Amino acid sequence: MKADLLIAGGTVIDGTGTPPRAADVAVTGDRIAVVDPLPAGVEAATVLDATDRVVTPGFIDVHLHTDTAALAPDTETNSGLPSLRQGVTSEICGNCGFSPFPVSDTVADTLGDVLTAAMGEGARFFADVPAYRAALEERPLGPNYAPLAGHGALRMTAVGFDDRVATTDEIAEMCDALDAALAEGCFGMSTGLIYPPSMFAPTEEIVALAHVLARHGRLYTTHMRDEANRVDEAIDEALEIGRESGVPVQISHHKVVGRPNWGHSTATLERIDSARAGGLDVALDVYPYTASSTGLLALFPRWLLDGGLASVSRLTENETRDAVRAESRTAGPGARSALVDAPDTVVISAAAHHPDLEGHSLTEIAGDNGDPLDTACDLLVEDPGVQVIVHQMNEEDVTRILAHPLAVVGSDGGLGGGKPHPRRAGAFTRVLGRYVRDREALDLVEAVRKMTGAPAERFGLADRGVIATGRRADLVVFDPDTVRDGATYDDPLAPRAECPTSSSTAAS
Ligand code: CU
Ligand code: ZN
Repeated sequence: MKADLLIAGGTVIDGTGTPPRAADVAVTGDRIAVVDPLPAGVEAATVLDATDRVVTPGFIDVHLHTDTAALAPDTETNSGLPSLRQGVTSEICGNCGFSPFPVSDTVADTLGDVLTAAMGEGARFFADVPAYRAALEERPLGPNYAPLAGHGALRMTAVGFDDRVATTDEIAEMCDALDAALAEGCFGMSTGLIYPPSMFAPTEEIVALAHVLARHGRLYTTHMRDEANRVDEAIDEALEIGRESGVPVQISHHKVVGRPNWGHSTATLERIDSARAGGLDVALDVYPYTASSTGLLALFPRWLLDGGLASVSRLTENETRDAVRAESRTAGPGARSALVDAPDTVVISAAAHHPDLEGHSLTEIAGDNGDPLDTACDLLVEDPGVQVIVHQMNEEDVTRILAHPLAVVGSDGGLGGGKPHPRRAGAFTRVLGRYVRDREALDLVEAVRKMTGAPAERFGLADRGVIATGRRADLVVFDPDTVRDGATYDDPLAPRAECPTSSSTAAS
């Protein structure tokens, strides 16, 4: 037999959770031809010596905002390198309610700013999945893409940006558009219930759409309405949607935000476990950091977002600022109250008009005589797309969630410029270095399962995520003793702390 590639002498962790074994892996074309024992006389064009290395399936990042990376300007972030360098070979996009389709031309022209803010410069919009796929096919792709349909895209096309209940006809229009997207190969639907216009949907609207998902055997992923002091209610809403429709529910980037809520992940995970024990198909994903990242606008009250970005100009009025201040004070601990009670935890990550402010907190920027909330308002009026990193989580919660058997890994990486969150380039290697090796929060086999076999099964990537004959040859080879993340808040795209020089490719 003649293979294209032989990965020889490594320890295979196959992604299913079974123990490691010494094995060679032969690849022909883009498929795994044989996993040890190799028949006699295997020859390969290239032999990769994997002695002292582990060989695993390519990692599957279940939560990204890189939908239009290949279509955007050719930068390092957009190239796919931040994923590939940490072993990620497949990306699930269209998360948190944002996808570049199905968006009508009218909506793309008038409201595209919101998606550009969420998805990065160069974001483009498409009427349907085939148009999106055709555009992607014109450009070289880095990792594989598996898109979800964003509920925000469906709702902005059918309803617009108003804070109101959708009519029966509008719900039918959204259901039809989702039905088409799923028939055309979408992997599920996401909501972003803190972002307009997804946030304006009552539970019943999502249940109607979830029935369409259930019919197609696809899943529902959700950035829930609250991840702080009302996280329990938010989980209950997600569970109710699953119960009413029969759809599998995936809680996106599960976390507990706000110092007074620290430790509460024990309760949230119990809630999820008991729903699961009651027969509900619910699971979750998580990124391995104690800071989140989103648009600065997401820290503002819902009424400000009614009607879309135009409403942001109201922040020039003092009454509006006072109303925001009052509401932030009563929001309860969490990201939404951070504007008034913890502005030092809110750090600007991207501000196109003020790159000098990137890396600085609202408290620092306001200075001794300024007010951080005024600073936030000024920045938003000038540029509603300002992005922030919010340091409001606790390491014990992150560790507990990551180690939970139902949790898989999703970076939540995006395309934003400036000093983006290091999760874009470091989430997977951070799990392997910090949480598996240094902290022993979970073992290597389990971590690999959470990055490969488990997400492939959860999201329906039929031929990926496991090392076995006939599967796609998406493979990663690494040294478990040295693998670690290099990306930091100061240097967010750095691939790794040190590059081992010993990895070698030997010709046969
Ligand atoms: Cu997200
Ligand atoms: Zn999200």
